[in-house]
Amino acid sequence: MNIAVVGTGHVGLITCVTMAEKGHRVIGTDVDPDKLQRLNAGEAPFYEPDLQETLTRELSKGSVRFVADMAEAVGDAAVVFICVGTPQRATGEANLAAVEESVSRAARHAPSGTVIAEKSTVPAGTARRLREVVKRSRPDPDVTIEIASNPEFLREGRAMADARKPDRILVGTDTEAARQTMRDVYEPWTAAGCPLVETGIDTAELAKHACNAFLALKISFANALARICERAGADVTAIADVMGMDERIGRAFLNAGLGFGGSCFPKDLKAFDRLAAELGYEFPLLREVQRINDEAVDATFRKVAEALWNLEGKKVALLGLAFKPGTDDVRFAPPLALARRLVDAGAAVSGYDPEAGGPALREVPELEIAADPYECAAGADCVVACTEWDEIARIDLVRLGKAMAVPILVDARNLFDGTSALDAGFTYYPTGRPAPVIA
Ligand code: UDX
Repeated sequence: MNIAVVGTGHVGLITCVTMAEKGHRVIGTDVDPDKLQRLNAGEAPFYEPDLQETLTRELSKGSVRFVADMAEAVGDAAVVFICVGTPQRATGEANLAAVEESVSRAARHAPSGTVIAEKSTVPAGTARRLREVVKRSRPDPDVTIEIASNPEFLREGRAMADARKPDRILVGTDTEAARQTMRDVYEPWTAAGCPLVETGIDTAELAKHACNAFLALKISFANALARICERAGADVTAIADVMGMDERIGRAFLNAGLGFGGSCFPKDLKAFDRLAAELGYEFPLLREVQRINDEAVDATFRKVAEALWNLEGKKVALLGLAFKPGTDDVRFAPPLALARRLVDAGAAVSGYDPEAGGPALREVPELEIAADPYECAAGADCVVACTEWDEIARIDLVRLGKAMAVPILVDARNLFDGTSALDAGFTYYPTGRPAPVIA
């Protein structure tokens, strides 16, 4: 089938190449001509495992190409996927101007029968608006252009794997014709056993918010539990394991630590909260999830302050700056929130991250970025393990401790075994579980 993808960011580009490798003919378009040029030259503009290889392969097969002209991109398309950004406004709601503009331009040039499918995360009710946009942009009564909602659930760092083999494909439509077109697009996936869930459009839009908010809720539950465990002398990891053995709960997303960040959870929580309020329902639980998340950074800051007393003139080393391992993304990254708190309190802050050093420095210019964890810890009064990279979990603690002025380790992600930390000479502060005592 002929597929058009509007927006070649994280979601759009992954959609382009995975649709192409499943046998569709894909044209991607974007408002950034430089990006299109680089894409046509075979250069992936961001890192995701196997993205570069797949882009190179599908370009050489001619199954995907990138054009600036919307008319050319959507002229033969059976489905146009809208994958443009929905940044957050100061008020918390999603800014849908790019979505409106893209749909309006696509509708002017798409053939009759095309389905315009939103993949961008949009609040419930957006499709109703988009239908009006389509009608205004293409008033021709003989032309039918359908709207569908097809939210993505891609995780950064695993986006190609998630797109190739999603837990489920969710398609919201209001007409049988649109439903059938979307079934045809996803036939290569459903034939391989991937479940396709078909709902109305409002339900699909809301389901995306519900999934992200619930995952964030699980993390905040674990973090609130960590605060209680720290007071009660209990072990949050053991409790999460016990909870996880109940198949109604599940173990995933119950790791207490420095909290969630990234481009989705913080933004989606706010947008969902705004949406609920607009619909006349107060949903303070969502705000509480964010508050507990902020508290996780605060609790770690207080551990450092408790260990070092005065922070002025002290050096704190942060191991891990990305919002999670496997990415250089620092958007809403809790380690950077911690870095800012420490800088404001007068500490000198060094940081190391296998991928995110450069982006972190652009966000927090006071950071001193190190080339490796040991350089980062050199002369430090305290080191904080902030992101759960394997490389950080496998650090040689004895070497790390020897590089420091004072061997204090705040383990904000519970990466280390407390006994090994003590054996390496550290004063050790875990998260939500008791520090082991020397027998
Ligand atoms: C998330 C959703 O998983 C994805 O389905 C959606 O489409 C976009 O948002 P992503 O932002 O890539 O994906 O990150 P994810 O892997 O879900 O992790 C989110 C954050 O939660 C990270 O900061 C991670 O460190 C944190 N986290 C995760 C915890 O603090 N504890 C956990 O137990 C799990």
